[in-house]
Amino acid sequence: MGTLGYIKNFFSDKYIASVTPTSIFGVRKVCGKIDFARARVFVEFGPGMGVFTRYLLPRIHPEAQMVLIERNRNFAEILQKRFPDSRVRIVNDCAENVLEILEEIGAVPVDYILSGIPFSFLPDDARREIVKGIHDVLRDGGKFLAYQTFYQSSPHLRIPLEERFGSVRVEYEVLNIPPLSIYEAVKNGRQAAR
Ligand SMILES: C[S@@+](CC[C@H](N)C(=O)[O-])C[C@H]1O[C@@H](n2cnc3c(N)ncnc32)[C@H](O)[C@@H]1O
Repeated sequence: MGTLGYIKNFFSDKYIASVTPTSIFGVRKVCGKIDFARARVFVEFGPGMGVFTRYLLPRIHPEAQMVLIERNRNFAEILQKRFPDSRVRIVNDCAENVLEILEEIGAVPVDYILSGIPFSFLPDDARREIVKGIHDVLRDGGKFLAYQTFYQSSPHLRIPLEERFGSVRVEYEVLNIPPLSIYEAVKNGRQAAR
């Protein structure tokens, strides 16, 4: 299943939110903020069909682990077939449950969380709860990297991140349909990576 399959799923699940997978330009820009040599635990929220996973796997440490949390069952099944890598664990669940999921797997603390989920679709208290969960599971210096399409972008994610992390850096990638906002928040402000 390629981009066409992705689009088909898009029409049956509003939480997919973006009509096409993230472009290679978007993937490179987000992943350019990762220090691959030092990181051992990666989490992806909303990996979709795995455009980030495919980019990350050849670059992460042989002993690293990657937990993919995807709420869409079709995508979770596709990911299972697509990434038969012992470092990858696919969980068909919601980012809202990140703390319970990672504690059960024994994957805390986390170095990097990458997220493509549409925060704008969630009520304010759910957004704050997810941001709290993210902060709880990250190690000191660990990073949260979120990419959102422009039309979903507003203070809805920046504000809860600023409240919890103290500060957040926002950049843009226009070579994506639609263009992306990229949020970068570091736990306790120490830069574990670039
Ligand atoms: C914009 S798509 C991004 C897909 C892929 N990461 C990419 O870059 O092409 C959003 C993805 O998040 C998933 N998703 C939405 N809400 C979620 C949630 N609360 N928890 C986990 N996954 C979620 C959707 O099913 C979809 O796969």
